[in-house]
Amino acid sequence: MHESLLIYKKFKYLKLTLTTVILSVVLYLYHSPIGSPNGGTWLGYTLGTTAALIMFWLAWFGARKRSYKKSKGNLEEWASAHVYLGLALVVISTLHSGFQFGLNIHTILYFLMMIVIISGIIGVYFYLKFPRLITKNRNGLTTEMMLNQITEIDEDIRELSMSLDDFTVDLMTKAIEETVIGKSFIIKLRGVDPDCPTTLARKHLRETFFSENKKTAEQLLSKLTRKEKILHQLRKDLKMRSLLQIWLYIHVPFTFAALAALVIHIFSVFYYW
Ligand code: HEM
Ligand code: HEM
Repeated sequence: MHESLLIYKKFKYLKLTLTTVILSVVLYLYHSPIGSPNGGTWLGYTLGTTAALIMFWLAWFGARKRSYKKSKGNLEEWASAHVYLGLALVVISTLHSGFQFGLNIHTILYFLMMIVIISGIIGVYFYLKFPRLITKNRNGLTTEMMLNQITEIDEDIRELSMSLDDFTVDLMTKAIEETVIGKSFIIKLRGVDPDCPTTLARKHLRETFFSENKKTAEQLLSKLTRKEKILHQLRKDLKMRSLLQIWLYIHVPFTFAALAALVIHIFSVFYYW
């Protein structure tokens, strides 16, 4: 997914959305219900039904997306329609409610739907930004290739450190054995490990004066610096992929919650009719 998500077919779905939104606003301003505007007028029902149909259609997108795997064009079209029609829901459903909010299931539905929509906006930002950044950060390397490079560097570190003092050897062993890429959820999201044993080992080498084995220490320092650079790449990669995953864990479950609230909303308004 790239820019075509937003500009697909010369903003076809932006235009469709704007037309629907403008039409809804015009109808809302010109209809004259008995009492204040609310979901129970003819326009209220029309806008509510439109919003519900759009929402079901958007929720169906997940399943549809997977069956469209082979056809990129269709996938882009669906995604573009998804984004713009999803945004249209803000206006359509607000007008449907007649701006009448309270502590009830109807407002809970509205709230859940807004979480899905706001998370959707964040998702678009991620989907437009991350694929390019991920490719740039990887610099043509796969995770496996980067991990293999680290294994090779670790072997060199082990060998080079053998002639140094016990304290340094201990730090190097920790750098080899205890360096983890995604140690915790927070570190995954930060993309930085402040207590990374490789960084601690590198700092020690940089700050210590080795009167003997000066050359070995310099070689070690260069190996550790290289390893740190690869670790940084891997952590950045993991950070972006984790953010995309977390985003999906918000957008999709809240979709189901909103759908359940919608069904209850429809049931309750007809039940108390
Ligand atoms: C995404 C879809 C929808 C959203 C977000 C939504 C949201 C809301 C909200 C926030 C209210 C105001 C509640 C209040 O007065 O406190 C409302 C009222 C109402 N909605 Fe919906 N609604 C949706 C779909 C529907 C559908 C499909 C129908 C029926 C076909 C419907 C029928 C009604 C009715 C009759 C009312 C007025 C209830 C009353 O005044 O007691 N809504 N809706
Ligand atoms: C109530 C409205 C919405 C519902 C019910 C909804 C539902 C969904 C579902 C079910 C998926 C599929 C996720 C998956 O399993 O991969 C999805 C994906 C997505 N949605 Fe929404 N969504 C809504 C509104 C929005 C809005 C307003 C935006 C953006 C402004 C948006 C942006 C996205 C994006 C970027 C994806 C990922 C597309 C991809 O993986 O190709 N959504 N949405």
